[in-house]
Amino acid sequence: MITTPHAIPNRHVQELRELRKKHLNPALSLSYQEPLKIVKGAGAYLYDEQGNAYLDMVNNVCHVGHCHPAVVAAGQAQMAQLNTNTRYLHDNIVEYAQRLSATLPQELSVVFLTNSGTEANDLALRIAKTYTQANDIIVVDHAYHGNSPSMIELSPYKFNSKGGSGRPAHIQVAEIPDDYRGRFLREDPQAGERYAQDVQRAVHDIHQRGQQPAAFYCESILGCGGQVVLPPSYLQHAYGHARAAGAVCIADEVQVGFGRAGKHFWAFESQGVVPDIVTMGKPICNGHPMGAVVTRPEIAQAFLNGMEYFNTFAGNPVSCAMGLAVLDVIQDEHLQKNAAQVGDYLINGLRSLQTRHPIIGDVRGMGLFIGVELVKNHEDKTPATKETRSIIEYLKTHRILLSSDGPHDNVLKIKPPIVFTQANAEEFLQRLEEALLV
Ligand SMILES: Cc1ncc(COP(=O)(O)O)c(C=O)c1O
Repeated sequence: MITTPHAIPNRHVQELRELRKKHLNPALSLSYQEPLKIVKGAGAYLYDEQGNAYLDMVNNVCHVGHCHPAVVAAGQAQMAQLNTNTRYLHDNIVEYAQRLSATLPQELSVVFLTNSGTEANDLALRIAKTYTQANDIIVVDHAYHGNSPSMIELSPYKFNSKGGSGRPAHIQVAEIPDDYRGRFLREDPQAGERYAQDVQRAVHDIHQRGQQPAAFYCESILGCGGQVVLPPSYLQHAYGHARAAGAVCIADEVQVGFGRAGKHFWAFESQGVVPDIVTMGKPICNGHPMGAVVTRPEIAQAFLNGMEYFNTFAGNPVSCAMGLAVLDVIQDEHLQKNAAQVGDYLINGLRSLQTRHPIIGDVRGMGLFIGVELVKNHEDKTPATKETRSIIEYLKTHRILLSSDGPHDNVLKIKPPIVFTQANAEEFLQRLEEALLV
């Protein structure tokens, strides 16, 4: 006899809020003054319980579109066939490792699978420490690398804000290379090199402690830092300083990888560097939890110190089938090209809005990872934080979902599924202009 699952009651929004309060920890936040009950997703849209469609410009996880039929079918078929751990030989994991490494520079050929971006960054930390036999880490200011205790220690975004306990002694924070608001501006052709000097300073501080650096972590475009595009040659110089001190360089592509950057499949490629370790997550399985670490054979080899790497769910046949389907869809539907074209269209449209609306201080981005920084004036760039919040609420009432971030929470964060079309971009630009006129 096949058991029919019990029907889940269709509860009213207010009742759901009360039950969340009672049974879930309020540390799980909700978006918007009046939270939405979302019951369905398709393409770039989310649907509430009344069937209203919302254009989703937040979700860089459902990368190839919510509930993409090919990804769903791949998961369903494999789920009906077999799901188990990696202690048996299976085609899916090998096929996935091969296909994933083919998207990366040749030297990055060894793949470890995990269940999330946090786990990927955690494992990268273990690998870096084992390889270098060092302990100290350099991160970029305002970075977020994950929710585990070790990743909170590596995330100034968390340890320097509410509830955080400040910078741990073994972590050094390099200045954020923000060429709009920081010390060196975009007009300065050496801004990248100048910001990277602070990585050298961090190395020096580690040596002063009598320690060595194990790793330099950097997102390839800074997300929580406010959608900051790294100034040209920043990573080349920063990696140079870190490597000269024996550290490995880790590119966190959890937010921006898999074609989102448009011109490049991996955003670090825009900096002309090859990292020692790349970490991945969010878009990798279009919403199904998976993460990955890819590294050089010699680094992977050093990790073989006798301790097994076992991770119950990571690399299971279902996740790998879904990951393969995501790679297929990106390729078959030319989604990297779409990200490049629609991203350029959107950036141009936003720059044109900027000429009419002085509250727009800066428009920056790559492909479909874009930031719009709002300021009260262009001289001292006072953050327009309250206005940013109001714009997000206004757009929500017009059924467009957007979030904000950055140290002052005044950057509109644009990172929709990469099936986002030019028509979607036009609709957004029109609504944003309305919001700016309110
Ligand atoms: C850059 C970056 N790295 C790592 C993570 C952690 O990923 P996850 O939440 O999937 O564990 C995040 C999540 O927001 C992130 O933005």
